[in-house]
Amino acid sequence: MPQDKLIIFDTTLRDGEQAPGIALTPDEKLAIARQLAKLRVDVIEAGFAAASEGDFYGVSQIAKLVEGPVIASLARCVPDDIDRAHDAVRHAARHRIHVFQSTSPIHMERMLRMTPNEVMRSIVKSVRRARRYTDDVEFSPQDATRSDPDFMIACCRAAVREGASTINIPDTVGFATPEDYVALLGRVYDEVLEGRDDVIVSTHCHNDLGLAVANSLSAIHAGARQIEGAVNGIGERAGNTSTEEIIMAVKTRQDHFGVEIDANTEEIVPTSRLVSRLTGYPIQFNKAVVGRNAFAHESGIHQHGVLRARETYEIMDPASVGATSQIVLGKHSGRAGFADALAKLDIVLEDDQFADAFRRFKDLADRKVEINERELRTIIRSEQDRIDETIRLVSMRVSGGSDVSPSASVRVSRGAEAEEEEFEGEGGGMVDATFTALKKAFGIDARLLDYRVVPVTAGADAMAEVNVVIRVGGFSHNGRGVSTDVVEGSGHAFVEALNRALSVHDG
Ligand code: KIV
Ligand code: ZN
Repeated sequence: MPQDKLIIFDTTLRDGEQAPGIALTPDEKLAIARQLAKLRVDVIEAGFAAASEGDFYGVSQIAKLVEGPVIASLARCVPDDIDRAHDAVRHAARHRIHVFQSTSPIHMERMLRMTPNEVMRSIVKSVRRARRYTDDVEFSPQDATRSDPDFMIACCRAAVREGASTINIPDTVGFATPEDYVALLGRVYDEVLEGRDDVIVSTHCHNDLGLAVANSLSAIHAGARQIEGAVNGIGERAGNTSTEEIIMAVKTRQDHFGVEIDANTEEIVPTSRLVSRLTGYPIQFNKAVVGRNAFAHESGIHQHGVLRARETYEIMDPASVGATSQIVLGKHSGRAGFADALAKLDIVLEDDQFADAFRRFKDLADRKVEINERELRTIIRSEQDRIDETIRLVSMRVSGGSDVSPSASVRVSRGAEAEEEEFEGEGGGMVDATFTALKKAFGIDARLLDYRVVPVTAGADAMAEVNVVIRVGGFSHNGRGVSTDVVEGSGHAFVEALNRALSVHDG
């Protein structure tokens, strides 16, 4: 039986860095390697030392300065590559040389222009050379899943005979399905290891068909005890297996996979954010484990459930990956989510105030995708400060533009019977026209003394607060209105100020 520990081999700094547009400086690589050590991955593939002077320096720095994980460098089956790899990683207390050679017909014929015999000889010589430097040598038959399995397995057997202690089976072009991959890994486990427990079978899956994580995990049941991945799944083309998805799948479904890992899961989100920031690769919003929505709940039913018991809609504790659960207020939110958001802001409302505030919130949510804390506070404040209105603005319509003279029509309701009436007005602009129509509705001759618009949040759909001061018969009255529409906000502000004037002058 294979041992129960699953080795997490992270190749963010080698395969991940090969993604188009990523070019990390040695310092940035060092920062990521330090974070990977905090995440407690077992192996860090720090780069491809022979690729350039910069790569060599980056790998050596990590080998010198990062403690904990095994530090590995990739090397082709070329003597100089193996020597450079060793020179770079030798500073680390534990280090590995990762030798690879293509074994598929298309790679051998069209890319390497080598016969299978030549390929086999290059593998034997290279693993032997690497073993002179270290007893931790990994061999990968590149494009294994499109290789003749008999030949690929013969190459792996030769590598083990020469002393390779890890045999990694790359699905280089993301071609395999879980069934194919399990069958192939099962053969490698049986025919290459032949009962030995000092050699590890490893997976390395690319995501061209979106199957990288599924393929990697499926191989655990076939005996694989190392999974290679990159943080956020970055890498060539559609990327690699996501390191963080593997860690959380194995932790969350321990019952299914039955293997142990050492990773410190609370460092997952910090690692993911650091990699995203330094590579410039954004994280997909709905990305498993680390996406901004991975623990966000917007629908009323889900919010209600999560607030009662997190497990209703969460299979992982967000804190266990260094994230926090988020109730997102939007048009699908219900009273429970709204009440929870108010409680988090220490806002207490009476029942009728709550009902009005919830109505205002729903009204705003219909026009805005997400409502943030400032907007929520503004809604609540305007609800708490609300005065008893003798005349209420029911609706308003405005028209204007460069070739239309601005006009407004306001519908108001008055008194206990809430009788509705409509008034029209024209003016120099749409706000002015609204003010004219409202003065007619109130039957008050008011003069506008001050008018200010203050944005509550940024963005095209931002909320704005409109403050007005009007003068009626020697007295000043102020009013405030809040809306995503400045003219509508102005209407509410005028109505508040005119109601204040009405209460003074009628009383
Ligand atoms: O995808 C691949 O085949 C590789 C090897 C070099 C391991 O990255
Ligand atoms: Zn790869």
